[in-house]
Amino acid sequence: MARSTRNKRRTTKRTGGMRMYTLSGKIVRDKDVLREGKDFFRKMTDNENEIKLCEFLMKHPHENIIKIHGISKDTGVGKDTGKGTGVGKDTNAVQYIDMELLDTDIEKVNKNQIIVAMKKVKKYLQNLGIIYIDWKPDNIGIDEDGNIKLFDFDVSGMIDTETNEWIIEPPKFHSYSVAVHNGMKTPIEIDDYAFSLGIKPDRSRSRSRSRSKSMKKSKSTDNTNTNV
Ligand SMILES: Nc1ncnc2c1ncn2[C@@H]1O[C@H](COP(=O)(O)OP(=O)(O)O)[C@@H](O)[C@H]1O
Ligand SMILES: [Mg+2]
Repeated sequence: MARSTRNKRRTTKRTGGMRMYTLSGKIVRDKDVLREGKDFFRKMTDNENEIKLCEFLMKHPHENIIKIHGISKDTGVGKDTGKGTGVGKDTNAVQYIDMELLDTDIEKVNKNQIIVAMKKVKKYLQNLGIIYIDWKPDNIGIDEDGNIKLFDFDVSGMIDTETNEWIIEPPKFHSYSVAVHNGMKTPIEIDDYAFSLGIKPDRSRSRSRSRSKSMKKSKSTDNTNTNV
């Protein structure tokens, strides 16, 4: 049984080659480009902080954090020829981050399992001084061994773990601003609050399961919303 599951996973993952996320948000494929004979994901970025954090994470791997294969200067392959999206402006250098290719259909994983894994990751990152902030299912995937993994460090920050002062302050996007608006002050408080906003327990699933049991006898008018 284990063997057939493994084979099934392999089959679904073998179709990609390199999957590349361009600066304008498009995902393009090149099936002929592989890393060590395997499919992989390439993210183009001009965000220096994201590069710094990913370099740091390469030295501090964790079973529930994306495995980064390497970071390189752009050779031009990821640049868009399309409409103005900032590409071509005289800003930061465009670089790419090569990483393992994940299955991003995270909906198929039990939310409570995700919470357990992500709580571990949050603690690990905070101990390293990384304040992730962008907690949400969109930034979580599954690796080829079935491990739940966090990716996307482009709006994360970093603190000095001695003083708790920012070294890299995150941009003040949605969850950061909501956390501050609700009285969170320290980076850890802000991160914990952002986590509670983005990673929610799977109440509807357990509720709908016990409900369906009790409703079996009565007539069914179930309109359970499976979206949490
Ligand atoms: N390692 C990966 N494997 C598979 N898909 C990925 C991977 N990293 C990112 N993606 C896909 O690309 C999208 C954008 O990547 P992400 O790093 O989250 O960038 P953004 O900062 O634009 O949210 C993700 O939502 C996901 O669909
Ligand atoms: Mg993302």
